[in-house]
Amino acid sequence: MKIVLMGAPGCGKGTQSPYVQERYGLCHLSTGDMLREAVTRKTVNGLLAKDAMNAGKLVSDDIVFGIVKDSIKNPECRYGYILDGFPRTLKQAQLMDEAGEKVDKVIEFSAPDEVILQRTSGRWIHKASGRTYHEVFRPPQSPGKDDVTGEELYQRKDDRRDVCEKRLEIYKNETRPLAEYFSKLGVYTMINADRTVDEVRKNIAALLDPIAVATGLK
Ligand code: AP5
Ligand code: MG
Repeated sequence: MKIVLMGAPGCGKGTQSPYVQERYGLCHLSTGDMLREAVTRKTVNGLLAKDAMNAGKLVSDDIVFGIVKDSIKNPECRYGYILDGFPRTLKQAQLMDEAGEKVDKVIEFSAPDEVILQRTSGRWIHKASGRTYHEVFRPPQSPGKDDVTGEELYQRKDDRRDVCEKRLEIYKNETRPLAEYFSKLGVYTMINADRTVDEVRKNIAALLDPIAVATGLK
């Protein structure tokens, strides 16, 4: 089962991905997480991506596609994958198509701009698991600590409000047109992400369960 989660910064892609991953045994490929890892490790891709990411701009299509192409070959992706934040341009979608990677479902998360900006500005993340928290909407049991491991949480450099506004603008200009592209392929659905985490999760499960049954994953 091959799934794309698409949506503006802070709409909840990373929050929902662990549930989808666990429910269907898929691998979770967040291009944002993989690029941040490359920046931390100071790899060639990381050095090339760093400035664009800190400014809220997109990293080049070739770099991002290269990372995804390699990752989907990993054994943990044998039952399929969740692409979180990829493709983000028409070019990236075409590169996947040319590589013969057809996705079963593209789910776009929709929420008003002000909700998006509130979510990114209060976000805290547990690096190892990807679990997300929010100062107001989803606070951890102890401030700054992961509920499960007790480890430190961190905040992203690109979650400053001005950078988030830039990311949102780029989303509208570069990524939203993909809705039409995937609609033509008959795989696109938009969901209301301005609801509780549980409500969004149930909505996603209702969309994906029939595909999981059809592909023998459930
Ligand atoms: P990336 O890391 O993918 O950032 P993004 O797409 O902007 O999305 P976010 O991770 O900010 O948001 P999310 O939807 O995961 O929200 P989350 O679940 O954390 O990309 C970063 C950068 O990398 C890009 O700017 C670009 O430079 C580069 N890049 C990545 N992919 C690329 C590509 N394909 N091409 C080119 N460049 C690329 O939730 C946010 C907060 O809200 C959390 O605090 C959470 O607890 C809370 N929350 C979530 N859901 C709810 C809810 N239902 N109710 C209340 N609170 C909620
Ligand atoms: Mg994310």
